[in-house]
This record gives sequence, C-alpha cells and structure tokens, in this order.
Amino acid sequence: IKHLLDIASLSKEEIEDFLNLAENLKEILYRPIPKVPTLRGKLIINLFYEPSTRTRFSFEKAAKTLSADSLTFTGKGTSIEKGETLLDTIKNLEAIGADLFIIRHPVAGAPHFVAKYSKVPIINAGDGTHEHPTQALLDLLTVKEKLGTLSDLKVAIIGDIKHSRVAHSDILAFQKMGSTVWVSGPVHLLPDIKEENYFKLSERSFKICYKIEDAIKDADIIIALRIQRERHGEALIPSFLEYHEFFGLKPEHLELMKEKTILMHPGPINWGVELAYEMEKYPFQVILDQVENGVAIRMAILLRFLTGERGYEDFN
Ligand code: CP
Repeated sequence: IKHLLDIASLSKEEIEDFLNLAENLKEILYRPIPKVPTLRGKLIINLFYEPSTRTRFSFEKAAKTLSADSLTFTGKGTSIEKGETLLDTIKNLEAIGADLFIIRHPVAGAPHFVAKYSKVPIINAGDGTHEHPTQALLDLLTVKEKLGTLSDLKVAIIGDIKHSRVAHSDILAFQKMGSTVWVSGPVHLLPDIKEENYFKLSERSFKICYKIEDAIKDADIIIALRIQRERHGEALIPSFLEYHEFFGLKPEHLELMKEKTILMHPGPINWGVELAYEMEKYPFQVILDQVENGVAIRMAILLRFLTGERGYEDFN
C-alpha cells in the first residue's frame, strides 16, 4: 500500500501489521532518551485544515521520536489565504522536499483526491465525515493491550454516528478483526439504509439500536462520541441537555454493563454531555491510554510508509 486513506481498503492482515509494528516500537517511548535515528533526513509535512490536538501533536511526537523533521501547516499565514488550492499546495511542498503528507481536511475524500497526484505517501488524519483511520488503529491497539484479543467482542459505539469519521473507521475496523459492532444514538444521527448496507460487513456483525441500553448491555467495549455540532448546520436538535438525558453514559448504566467493560472516547470530550462527569473515575476508562497509543501507532505508520518496514524488531 502506498497511502493510508481509510480502513475500508485495508485487509485484516494489513491492520495486524500496523498493530504489531506499533507494539514493537512502543518501548522506544519509555527509554531514558526516547529517540532513535531511523528517519533522519526525512521531511514530514502535517497539513491541518481543521483543528486538532491529539492527532496533530502525536504525529509530531512520533516524527521527532524517529528523528524525522516535521513541519506543520494550518492554513493561517500561508498562500491558502490567497486562494491556493490543496493540490497546488501539495505540489509546491513536494518541490520543497516533503517525503510524506499527513492531511486533515473538512472535505470527505480530500486525501483520496490528492493521493492520485502526489508522488509521496498521503496519510488521512481525518477527512470530513468520512474516516479517521489512524484513530481506529490506535483504538484497536488499546483494546488488544487491555483485553488480549480483537475477535468475538461486542463493541458499542454511542452518539453522532452519522457525522463521526471515528465511528465510521471503528465500525469497519472492529468488524474486520472479527467483532460485532452495535451503534446507538438519536435516530437522525444514525446511519440511513444505504449507509447501513455499507457498514454491515456481514449479516450479524453490525446492528443499529434506538436505545442506548440495548447497545451497552453486555458490551465488552463502549466508545462514546462527541456530538459534532459543527457539522449539523443550524439545527440544535437534540440539545446537549436532551442528549445527556437519553444517550449520555452515566453511573446508572453501570448495572447494565459487564463488570469490566472498557470505556473509550476519541476526544475531545464534552463532559456532562456524552459522558457524565462521574465516568472519569470509572476504573476501566482508557481514554488517555488511547492518546498514548496514538503516538506508537503513528510511529508505526511513519516507519511503514517511509521505509517499507512491516515487522520491526530489536531497535537500537
Ligand atoms: N481524536 C482526535 O482526532 O482528536 P483531535 O481532533 O484533537 O486530533
């Protein structure tokens, strides 16, 4: 594979390669000096046309740990303000010497479009409401670490499924690894029939629930999502208060959940909306483990696409 554009086009084996590589690389982060020279001389350019904290800074940390140079471009202060197109921006930054681009863009499919013309690898860091493949890979890595398996699990994803690129990548990723995915949220924020057919990889591996209780009951993993207000236009339905009442995860749900259900959230979190404040203290909440694993996964991605490395072991 030349680019990382979505989970839809990855095989189970390709996903496993990324996870194995990340597991091998993670120990570098715990060394007294967490830095190796492997990607010295490589230039990574982060093109962030939308805000980001976790994805952007973990890619930067991954690049620095592997000794690559990284430049970050957020549009402000560049010729985008004079109307320069995404494709011209890519061509010009290639001429400056970019070896790989990481792109976050509000338009679904933007990384796929530039990948057709780019001479160097394109990594999708989130494209509109389409996919966020590196988030799904770090979510899989976190579950594999916590539960020791990625198959035969019940994964409940709660919230704004329709607009969530994280949900779209996670729905495909967990099914590809052999688990079932149950989604729940306000009805107008759930997949329509066409989308349901796209997400359902097998007859029994994807299910839509209209009540949060049906999705979280006996789930091994619960992934809570942020309501994507910025993608809803003028509509303010449901209000945050209504959302919390009907779909927010609260202490009263604990009796329905398995004793050790893993609780995840991709961030940023609206505490008091999708998660009650009390859930921060829930002992099987792994939200910051996800963030930490984001660095390891992104190291694996940079190494894989800049050197072709797939099974790296014993790094000095
Ligand atoms: N999870 C995630 O993509 O967070 P950021 O938007 O902060 O990168």
